[in-house]
Amino acid sequence: MSLQAVGVLGTGKYVPERVLTNHDLENMVDTNDEWIVTRTGIRERRIASPEQASSDLAYEASKIALNKAGIAPEEIDLIIVATITPDMSFPSTACILQDKLGAKKAAAFDLSAACSGFIYSLANATNFIATGTYKYALVVGAECLSKITDYTDRNTCILFGDGAGAVVLGPVAEGRGFKSFELGADGTGGDLLKIAGGGSRCPASPQSLEGKQHFIYMAGAEVFKFAVRIMGSAAEDALRKAGIAKSEVDLLVPHQANIRIIQSALQRLDLSEDKCMINLDKYGNVSAASIPIALAEADEEGRVKEGDCIVLVGFGGGLTWGASVLIW
Ligand SMILES: CC(C)(COP(=O)(O)OP(=O)(O)OC[C@H]1O[C@@H](n2cnc3c(N)ncnc32)[C@H](O)[C@@H]1OP(=O)(O)O)[C@@H](O)C(=O)NCCC(=O)NCCS
Repeated sequence: MSLQAVGVLGTGKYVPERVLTNHDLENMVDTNDEWIVTRTGIRERRIASPEQASSDLAYEASKIALNKAGIAPEEIDLIIVATITPDMSFPSTACILQDKLGAKKAAAFDLSAACSGFIYSLANATNFIATGTYKYALVVGAECLSKITDYTDRNTCILFGDGAGAVVLGPVAEGRGFKSFELGADGTGGDLLKIAGGGSRCPASPQSLEGKQHFIYMAGAEVFKFAVRIMGSAAEDALRKAGIAKSEVDLLVPHQANIRIIQSALQRLDLSEDKCMINLDKYGNVSAASIPIALAEADEEGRVKEGDCIVLVGFGGGLTWGASVLIW
């Protein structure tokens, strides 16, 4: 069976209006702008309103992506939402989004792979289209991390923000589109980055709330070491699978967790910073939404043009990682 080439037909992003700066955080925890900027590269992040949930952000980003692709919601066959902050346990945020968009014929599900979730979702959707099962897919990363962040914990609250990015995938001309995916997981590192409460292991209870188990827990230094190792190697593996040399890469779109992690990946890939999309200074780490927001912003800014070789790479809780090579 010959496979259909699959690529990005349109991108969109949405971030909430409210800005939380490093200076605002100085009034909330024992931290300072200089520490945050030198250790992470982050200057500000966006925060959803109390009324906004992940599907609301996903909806705004999806409308833009569909519009750019020139595809009506009714034409979409599949919706995948990558998120660790679903509106609720079930129904899935993808089903809620399907209803909001009126994408009546679309199958819809959420995918949980933390910050690697968008790349995992792209791989899923690409395979459905490549094999002819579906024609058009909407793939979204959407997060309201502010709702699961402990704003008394300076180790984590400086890092995270809210937002959504979306892409419409569909058939493209031979030679273009996704050339490879490299996905991985190491469950032995699951305790390094997690939310312990609210699931079937530790259901919500007065004790779980008191123990702050519904907030993100992170062993920062351990995750940092893992990230530095995996970002470069996952991107290299994806390039090798695609048969493309590092020197042919036009743009790296990495997960936006920490500027020092991104710089180490650039070093490993022999790429200069001008070949990298960096917007974590404005949005912080938006988990599964970071890569699609960065890709949509690169698209908005005209930083990607037809035929460009783009490498997407991310890592996150699970532990998980993913990389992909895409010819625009
Ligand atoms: C969190 C992170 C920025 C911390 O940077 P770091 O250089 O490793 O800093 P350390 O953890 O060594 O902490 C150094 C000191 O700064 C302190 N510190 C931590 N957060 C601080 C803050 N917001 N402001 C000021 N000081 C802070 C620590 O308490 C520690 O003090 P101590 O030495 O007295 O104990 C870094 O570990 C990181 O980015 N990790 C990966 C996070 C990530 O990518 N997570 C998402 C995965 S998708």
